[in-house]
Amino acid sequence: MKKVLIAPSLMSADFASLKDTFDELKKAGCDYVHLDVMDGAFVPNITFGQMVVRNVARFATLPLDAHLMIEEPGRYVADFALPGVRIICVHVEACRHLDRVVQQIAEAGKVPGVALNPATPVSSIEWVLDRVGFVLVMSVNPGFGGQEFIGYSVGKIEAVRRMLDARGLKDVILGVDGGVNERVAPQVVNAGADFLVTGSYLFNVRGGPAEAVKRIRRAIGKTRAGGRT
Ligand code: DX5
Ligand code: ZN
Repeated sequence: MKKVLIAPSLMSADFASLKDTFDELKKAGCDYVHLDVMDGAFVPNITFGQMVVRNVARFATLPLDAHLMIEEPGRYVADFALPGVRIICVHVEACRHLDRVVQQIAEAGKVPGVALNPATPVSSIEWVLDRVGFVLVMSVNPGFGGQEFIGYSVGKIEAVRRMLDARGLKDVILGVDGGVNERVAPQVVNAGADFLVTGSYLFNVRGGPAEAVKRIRRAIGKTRAGGRT
């Protein structure tokens, strides 16, 4: 049974104390830190770019996954292929030539990831599935933290898991991103997700990240004991 990885979205963190936040997240038992890069064009919001990621990567005590919500991300792969960044994830909808961008990420020595907006069919990644190491199912419309989980994402996660299983791609990480909390976590893990991005829940629950991780792991443990193998 694969370990479910928990990846706090830095977008919901206090940017005035990022270094302490990393220590807190590591102590809390998080596995990755999720970097939401937004350009205000692909999504209606702007967060931070490669300059911030370069600085964060210098003190990151957890591996980083860069979620590039930017138009034509192929132009910036080299900028985000930094030490400490393990996964570079691009949106299917933002790449005119997705296969080329996936190859660029692999050639940069990073794990290529592809992200799907809620309404984007899973068929859009079927021809690159063998070239990626990470699939991210968006369970909110990208651009903001604190949104409600979109219920039909569960069926979509199951569909991607079936595609991966059918190809024997058991090492590909299947992530879900948006509105994940202790109630949603067991549903999406049961559907086949093994990488949970969580922002507003993890940083706002009383007791902070340590409490949030504990609750999520407890909720998953329970469902795995009785649910999906
Ligand atoms: C949304 C981002 C998500 C978001 C997660 O566009 O990609 O990573 O920050 O935050 P919550 O968990 O609050 O939905
Ligand atoms: Zn994200």
